[in-house]
Amino acid sequence: MEKRIAIVFGTRPEIIKFSSIIKHCREQGIGFFTVHTGQHYSREMGKIFFEQLGLPEPDFRLSVKSSAPFMQGEHTGKMMQEIEKLLLREKPTDVLVEGDTNTVLAGALVTAKIATVKQLVSFRPRLGHVEACLRSYDRSMPEETNRVIADHVSDLLFAPTEQARENGLKESIAKEKIFVTGNTIVDALQMVEKRVQSGNALEELKLRSGRYALLTLHRQENVDVRERLHSILKGVSEFSRKHGIKVVWPVHPRTKKMLGKFSIAIPKEVRAVKPLGFLEFLQVEKNAAIVLTDSGGVQEESCIFRVPCVTLRENTERPETVQVGANIVAGWKPEGIAEAAEKMLSRKRKWQQPFGNGKAGKKIIDIVLRE
Ligand code: UD1
Ligand code: UDP
Repeated sequence: MEKRIAIVFGTRPEIIKFSSIIKHCREQGIGFFTVHTGQHYSREMGKIFFEQLGLPEPDFRLSVKSSAPFMQGEHTGKMMQEIEKLLLREKPTDVLVEGDTNTVLAGALVTAKIATVKQLVSFRPRLGHVEACLRSYDRSMPEETNRVIADHVSDLLFAPTEQARENGLKESIAKEKIFVTGNTIVDALQMVEKRVQSGNALEELKLRSGRYALLTLHRQENVDVRERLHSILKGVSEFSRKHGIKVVWPVHPRTKKMLGKFSIAIPKEVRAVKPLGFLEFLQVEKNAAIVLTDSGGVQEESCIFRVPCVTLRENTERPETVQVGANIVAGWKPEGIAEAAEKMLSRKRKWQQPFGNGKAGKKIIDIVLRE
């Protein structure tokens, strides 16, 4: 049967990490269509990535917004309703989701449920999970629930590393379903490498290479809790003062809202800027003295760029970055942040990145076509 692959995404990192897959399908004339759930809707969280990565406009836009970040059920439920209607109409052969967001949970559950409906015997879409089998083993994160469920209802699991594959095997997911492909973030970085090198984001932001720290923060467990958000900023500013390193902080929209709600002032050592485009962000990341972050993708990228990373969380689903020496998980208390940052600043930047060779997108589509 001729392939018609539905690629479902909704947030900034999903667009970035699907970019090589979309590009490959287009170049090879493989049947596919894209669905944007609308989870991220601001220009700087969406449209700019399509422009910079040369991606076609989404074929379908569902415009499902969360009315409040804590209304996870409403958010996921609305997406499920809309995705179901669309899949029943468009009848893809395969559905791909990427990562651990509410968009992933909605896309995965709907696809798995459609596949059980007896009246639809001639329509049984297969579900493929890109970036499968990552585990933080922390169920207090919404992302952990999303990724565990998505993995357990998927037909094809594209694990970025051998360690991720092992996580899946430990949960008794059939070994025939799991494929180690590398992470498509490497593909995306290769796609924009030259433009990142020739960009002028540092000049525009008046930053000097190697003389500043880059901060990103958006995780629910950090920014929705006043004490934690305050404590992290305190730790970052103390580190900044001690080492005479200024901090640049592209502020995620969720975090901006919570800073306002909690009336937390941004410390004077920290320069808050709007979320950056992918090219600009990568240039700032690549030239930073150190990266302080609670993002998953930023842990990977800093590891790939050989920029030391401190993770502002109590755990990580990217333990490979810690094992190769690129990252320390510091928690959210000032002392832990300062100690980890100091260690990372003095560490030799000679680690090997564990995320593959930049051909993950092609590998994934080859498997979808073959299996
Ligand atoms: C989501 C994902 C998270 C991922 C992150 C990537 C879930 C549960 N979380 O978190 O795993 O790491 O995306 O950035 O799926 N907002 C805007 N403009 C936007 C998008 C969001 O203003 O374009 C605001 C809205 O107030 C919204 C809030 O941010 O209610 C949170 O957005 P949401 O998509 O629910 O979660 P993120 O924190 O972005
Ligand atoms: N990113 C960006 N501009 C920014 C911050 C991040 O382009 O201002 C990119 C970054 O390069 C990475 C991705 O967004 O590829 C990470 O997304 P995010 O931190 O929102 O989500 P996570 O990876 O934690 O799910």
